[in-house]
Amino acid sequence: MERYKVNIHALATTANEMVANGKGLLAIDESTETCNRRFAQWDIAQTAEAHRRYRELIVSTPGLNESISGAILYDETIRQKKDDGTPFATALAAIGILPGIKVDRGAKEMPAFPGEKITEGLDGLRTRLAEYLAMGARFAKWRAVFSIGGGTPSRGCIESNAHALARYAALCQEAGLVPVVEPEVLMEGDHTLDVCSEITGRVLRTVFEELYSQRVQLEAMILKPNMVLPGLTCPTQNTVEEVSDATVRCLLRSVPAAIPGIVFLSGGQSGELASARLNAMNVRYKSRLPWELSFSYGRAIQEPALEIWHGEQANVIPAQEALYHRAKCDASAHRGRYDAAVEADHREIPAPALIANVYAGSAR
Ligand code: 13P
Repeated sequence: MERYKVNIHALATTANEMVANGKGLLAIDESTETCNRRFAQWDIAQTAEAHRRYRELIVSTPGLNESISGAILYDETIRQKKDDGTPFATALAAIGILPGIKVDRGAKEMPAFPGEKITEGLDGLRTRLAEYLAMGARFAKWRAVFSIGGGTPSRGCIESNAHALARYAALCQEAGLVPVVEPEVLMEGDHTLDVCSEITGRVLRTVFEELYSQRVQLEAMILKPNMVLPGLTCPTQNTVEEVSDATVRCLLRSVPAAIPGIVFLSGGQSGELASARLNAMNVRYKSRLPWELSFSYGRAIQEPALEIWHGEQANVIPAQEALYHRAKCDASAHRGRYDAAVEADHREIPAPALIANVYAGSAR
């Protein structure tokens, strides 16, 4: 019992570090299938070695640690190494970026609930968490998905996914990893902002009920929700301010003050919109919020870099500059300081220094 208490205190410290100093998380935890799908869009080879080279480009980006506090890896990636033999988790830790790991095994068709998904991965999780901890992971992530439309999400889908999230979170805290709890209400559909708000609120309240009943310590976890947004095909696309107001109102009504931070997923928003909306929330509400409001973006940080890289070694430097830039915009948004000038300010790194840095694997 005593050991468990000490453990929770250390985990709470890590959870606070994940959202401190205006920084946020970088999600590079695409599963093999998702990574291959993204690579296929740009005719990039879909091999484990191509995944490795892309992740090396990312973790070696000079200055990434100015904006990024933690990076979420995938099972394949946490087992891979840089060209110089340094495991990715070790390379991240060396530059002050906490290594994290996606531990769910994907959202699968839910029996008897057509069109809905249940996230799998609880069986054997205790053993896998111990292995990831030994590899250097400090936090973990589990994603549940909910789609809006035609009577979904159902109560059965919300409750079973919330229960799995809470069981996962409890196992993480026992293992010594900070759980990032990710219930994602998807953007696909023609629903309005109000409908997204109603459903996101219902999902979050159910998730926290389950977290309480599984005795998850709220001070030692991070919530990773969607922003409250109108559906992609909704005729009314709300302003940045309307999205920011609806999102903060929904979170204030549903998320306990005890958690240290909320980090949004980007969910298919453009990089610019994901920065602008997060910024508006922090500009308009920061002094009234009990938790840090930050980011844990995948596509919204990586997309320009992936397009520029195109699988070519010659494009590594401009791709890293694009990645650095988007991460910097998001960190500015966490601080409520993102604007057109920040968006326009592309930093250029002298090529020789950067090349030396990439291949030496040193921190900057
Ligand atoms: P996106 O920001 O691309 O939605 O990815 C975040 C994530 O981790 C999804 O699980």
